[in-house]
Amino acid sequence: MIDIHAHILPGVDDGAKNWEQSLEMARMAVADGITVMVATPHLFKGRSTDLTQLNTKEIILQHVAQLRHRLSEERIPLELIPGCDFPLGFESLKLLDDGRALTINDAKRYLLLELPDTSLPPAIEEICFHLQARGITPIITHPERHLVMQEMPYKLKRLIDLGCLVQMTGNSLTGWFGRRVKKIARQFVKLGYIHLLATDAHDPKRRPPLLSAAVAELSRLVGEKRARAMVSDIPGKIIAGEPCF
Ligand SMILES: [Fe+2]
Repeated sequence: MIDIHAHILPGVDDGAKNWEQSLEMARMAVADGITVMVATPHLFKGRSTDLTQLNTKEIILQHVAQLRHRLSEERIPLELIPGCDFPLGFESLKLLDDGRALTINDAKRYLLLELPDTSLPPAIEEICFHLQARGITPIITHPERHLVMQEMPYKLKRLIDLGCLVQMTGNSLTGWFGRRVKKIARQFVKLGYIHLLATDAHDPKRRPPLLSAAVAELSRLVGEKRARAMVSDIPGKIIAGEPCF
């Protein structure tokens, strides 16, 4: 399986705290059947858009190179790809234009788009349009966990119609985030609003890098073939910078 959303790099955001945790997450992912993982730290280290607290392309690439080295030393067979969890906003768009923010695999084709926690800015469609004009497909991350999307799924449908892809957090389907999120996650899948699953892992315990149980749940809803595509073929094309459909 391929996981395109994971906060596995140590000490750069609210994900892995140190190298030991990163390696533990990598071991867990491999044991669960994940062979490729995109390391996607938040663009801003804190929650604010503080430009002095930025995970630039250079910082992420350096950390990925270091973690690859550690993985090979520890003989953990996990392929690591650089990426970024990109916050929705015009400030971050500017950083992308300046070459300071990273797209998935630096291919300039796909970008994980992180929504604000509780709101949905009116500019979202305009920002998606700006990205697409640059040849970049936005991937909306875990809408099943977002208050506005939960209440107004038509807002998600509208973004899909505009050409966005949608990534669900695998464990939303297993009940990890509670019954309400699980119910909405299942609804979104049945409506055909979900294109792929990822872990959005942050640590080994609270937000672990696991996908297999979610794929089993997903298989019951869409069949095994489609469920597999959502954790292999589609994320594979995203990493390669190829069209998904
Ligand atoms: Fe994330």
